[in-house]
Amino acid sequence: MGSSPFTSLVAMRSLIVALSVLLFCPEIAAAKHERVTRHYKFDIKLQKVTRLCHTKNIVTVNGQFPGPRIIAREGDRVVVKVVNHVNNNVTIHWHGIRQLRSGWADGPAYVTQCPIQTGQSYVYNFTITGQRGTLFWHAHISWLRATLYGPIVILPNRHIPYPFAKPYMEVPMIFGEWWNADTEAIINQALQTGAAPNVSNAYTINGLPGPLYNCSSKDTFKLKVKPGKTYLLRLINAALNDELFFRIANHSLTVVEVDAVYVKPFKTDTILITPGQTTNVLLKTYNHHFSGATFLMSARSYATGIAAFNNSTTSATLQYEQSSNSSTPSKPLALLKPTLPFFNDTSFATNYTKKLRSLATAQFPANVPRNVDKHFFFTVGLGLRPCPKNRTCLGPNGTMLAASINNVSYVQPNMALLQAHFFRQSRGVYTTDFPVNPLLPFNYTGNPPSNIMVKSGAKVVVLAFNTSVELVMQDTSILGAESHPLHLHGFNFFVVGQGFGNFDANRDPANFNLVDPVERNTVGVPSGGWVAIRFLANNPGVWFMHCHLEVHTSWGLKMAWIVMDGKLPNQKLPPPPLDLPKC
Ligand code: C2O
Repeated sequence: MGSSPFTSLVAMRSLIVALSVLLFCPEIAAAKHERVTRHYKFDIKLQKVTRLCHTKNIVTVNGQFPGPRIIAREGDRVVVKVVNHVNNNVTIHWHGIRQLRSGWADGPAYVTQCPIQTGQSYVYNFTITGQRGTLFWHAHISWLRATLYGPIVILPNRHIPYPFAKPYMEVPMIFGEWWNADTEAIINQALQTGAAPNVSNAYTINGLPGPLYNCSSKDTFKLKVKPGKTYLLRLINAALNDELFFRIANHSLTVVEVDAVYVKPFKTDTILITPGQTTNVLLKTYNHHFSGATFLMSARSYATGIAAFNNSTTSATLQYEQSSNSSTPSKPLALLKPTLPFFNDTSFATNYTKKLRSLATAQFPANVPRNVDKHFFFTVGLGLRPCPKNRTCLGPNGTMLAASINNVSYVQPNMALLQAHFFRQSRGVYTTDFPVNPLLPFNYTGNPPSNIMVKSGAKVVVLAFNTSVELVMQDTSILGAESHPLHLHGFNFFVVGQGFGNFDANRDPANFNLVDPVERNTVGVPSGGWVAIRFLANNPGVWFMHCHLEVHTSWGLKMAWIVMDGKLPNQKLPPPPLDLPKC
């Protein structure tokens, strides 16, 4: 049966062709990657924690604060069993995970699921498709995410390198916010009285406030580095109510990814990160002799509203290793501190966000919807609601503070929207008349109208499968212009335009970037301005959209999109898992 030299040559050739296809076509190589299932168990329990010399019991995952890291590769399935051992109702949201046809695992309470009650459990089960980078998980009920949060690290497929040189080391740095008092008591009281809740006592990096606070120097996150190496910092803003500037003394950063999407790399000294956003940066350490030197890595608030905010600074340290072979013992160098922008530096914010562009390569294309099926114009901002009879309210002029989208302040029903939608039981749960445009147009960024009372309801927008959506979000100056980080569940969107003042539907779209706009899941609506986003509604389910400043969400700055099933079997939302919690 021996093969002739000719046939073996052919065989050899086809082997070479096959190999080179594998080497040069990452998609095919990707198909070879063994997709694995990663199992996690999250026991929700109380843990005593001390910060700023105040000790309190906080709700944690497995007693850890911040919570454990989830690590997976693109394409993997993640299965997390969450068991609730505390008195609070709990849900967990996997912020930024697309949840393609797995909306039952998304997590916002009373949107995709009823909460997990005391003693109950729920298994979140989803596959990570077409995403790689940094995201995070957090509780999605009331203010529990103050302490229930942790990083999600999605490594690229084994056969696909980063579009930048492989870093020497990768370090998640998650920003948070610490209150000495109990955060549930703070928000419950504020919602009772109608006044603004107390601001936090500290910001934190990996749960630690750092040396610039009283009674805190031992609670500092320390990053020891070697000279001449590149570190990938996975920055996550899990703070409740504050956008943050971040800077490292005497070092510049290269931004390479936001919200688990690669961007065109650019250099900057300072980054801006809103709650709900993530940013991967490369940090190159100096080659020359900094043996033993320590630099502060600091973050503080970018705040544009009129309300009080926490203007303190959290810091971690960047410590160069003491070189053992240095002939002269290095004298202790001064602790170097970075200079951060002023708290209201909107021009920095604007310049920074304009630098964010999609990579837009053949391998990582920017699939911006070119044609728009449905246009929406939403105002976002604050307002007031009347004080209930026989109560004393502590909001402006005895009213209650509120927030709204198109003047609708969302009221949480006591059943999950997704269940009501799937089982066709929407009556008494939600209505489908969310306004596509403001019902009473006004000069949004000029003098507010005389009546600034909001309307209330659980209203949603219904979209047919595969609708291409353009949404303009317009800040209002009611009770002060303010930047609002709007987060959309279930999708990434492209930020095609932004500007100040009122959006002009005739003039502004001409300047939209449809070539390489940044793709993300959370965008800051500029203070006193607008932002335009586009997305393709190709994921059936119910998708929450809200301001990621938790206080604004509490006040009603939230709504939901219902995306209907498509015709094909793989365009339909499967039925809920059997352990979906009951209300
Ligand atoms: Cu990060 Cu609806 O949440």
